[in-house]
Amino acid sequence: MAAGAAARRDQGGEKRILCVGLVCLDIISVVEAYPAEDSDTRCVSQRWQRGGNASNSCTVLSLLGAPCAFMGSLAAGHAADFVLADLRRYGVDVGHVVPQPGGCLPASVVIASASRGTRTILHAHGNLPDVTARDFERVDLSQYKWIHWEARNAAEQAEMMRRVERYNGARPPAERVRTSVEVEKPREELLPLMGLGHVVFISKDLAQHFGYRSAPEALRGLHSRVQPGATLICAWAEEGADALGPGGELVHSDAFPPETLVDTLGAGDTFNAAVIFALSAGRSLQDALTFGCRIAGRKCGIQGYDGIV
Ligand code: FRU
Repeated sequence: MAAGAAARRDQGGEKRILCVGLVCLDIISVVEAYPAEDSDTRCVSQRWQRGGNASNSCTVLSLLGAPCAFMGSLAAGHAADFVLADLRRYGVDVGHVVPQPGGCLPASVVIASASRGTRTILHAHGNLPDVTARDFERVDLSQYKWIHWEARNAAEQAEMMRRVERYNGARPPAERVRTSVEVEKPREELLPLMGLGHVVFISKDLAQHFGYRSAPEALRGLHSRVQPGATLICAWAEEGADALGPGGELVHSDAFPPETLVDTLGAGDTFNAAVIFALSAGRSLQDALTFGCRIAGRKCGIQGYDGIV
């Protein structure tokens, strides 16, 4: 047994879930109705919130009670201090945050329409380099039961995922790290990552980009891109989510819309986190999908994430 595993067992420690991707600042203005161009409107409320898909998923994992860690780049400055303190506040392990000497922390201006439940995002990248396969070499894989990537710098991330595959190849099934990847943006260079994860999340946006009009249609059309035995999952807003399991079985969950749609920002990240949480606890694909839809639905009924459990 590896020394790390022995130490963990002594401390009664649970293996963690690592999410690799973006942390950014979200400046959210909640408005009654989406404003007209060149108008001057008072908003209902305004707040700073930590954002970024992987960082949002960490928030949800923590709230669900899963020990988790975030890996991503951070630039120096007030916004970075804010997001780092907030990760800590939620009990997310920040030991793998990579400080970058150049660039600014990415930030999004979000216009959230209270009447329609839409969230319009204006994202500034901040010229911040993403974490590399080299950074990822420092991750002690024996600490993790699941590693999730938000597809960004695909070539580097593919190398990280291959490192995990090599690690798994030399270990008995119980010690292997399960992997997932979210391909949200319809960018050609991200697509090869679909062939690497054990669980692959694709967005409605990506599916529509390929011309599919429903989640089952997208799953059937894109299934050949995932590795044999992998699970492909596609959430489709108010239509719920569908998945194609390792044996080719199609599974569906309806959505659980809240009574009033309050805030849909990060609903997809919430869904991913809840599905990962359930699957990593050994629950069935059907259970995980239903749980994902239920928690994402709850998120849409509240501002932010506090109160999803
Ligand atoms: C929500 C989100 C926001 C962030 C944006 C980046 O899914 O992660 O928190 O501003 O997407 O694209």
